[in-house]
Amino acid sequence: MNRPTENRRDFLRRTMLAAFALPFLTDCRVFAQKSTREILEAIRKNAGDPENCNWCGAAREAPDEISWKTALADEKDAGEPLVIAGTVYEKDGRTPAPNILIYAYHTNAEGFYGRGKGEHPHGKHHGWMLTGKDGRYEFRTIKPAPYPARDTPAHIHFTLTGLRFREYWIDDVWFEGDELITPEIKKKQLSGRGGFNPIVRLERGADGVRRGLRDIRLDY
Ligand SMILES: [Fe+2]
Repeated sequence: MNRPTENRRDFLRRTMLAAFALPFLTDCRVFAQKSTREILEAIRKNAGDPENCNWCGAAREAPDEISWKTALADEKDAGEPLVIAGTVYEKDGRTPAPNILIYAYHTNAEGFYGRGKGEHPHGKHHGWMLTGKDGRYEFRTIKPAPYPARDTPAHIHFTLTGLRFREYWIDDVWFEGDELITPEIKKKQLSGRGGFNPIVRLERGADGVRRGLRDIRLDY
């Protein structure tokens, strides 16, 4: 007697589960079919307007075929070779965040952006990365110098743009040991945006290149 009732119940439960899961499965399939180019196109809709935002970069010349790693300098550029890498995490600080467009830029080895006629407003040393499933990013560059005759430490600017949020900036990367890093300047210039520690310790590898870790927490 109970059996037909149980079967009907099971059937209803399966139907409800299927109805609940279908949209997610469909979304996943559509998402999986999206190319990097399509994802980037969707992210760009959240880019800041470069005409009205001097720190934005997501809308500028980000390449269509973008990778999780890039180079902001080439071997001809003066300066100490440097690699900065890390993982972008969701707001929980633990789950890797995919499809985050990172824009990074910095001064040259003399502390200038080189904003001459026809030059990019952020100088030569700028570039883009798009995180994959593991949330990782990495870029090779040269160590920037602080602005001449100013009290701001040497730094690398970052902006983040995603499918679900508009472009925003996080705390710049600073370098441990920089004598311009004082309690006063930390209080004045560090906001906590991006989480973790933006003051990176550089370790020299066997290849002579100095490497630093800057993990990022989303907090849009
Ligand atoms: Fe700067």
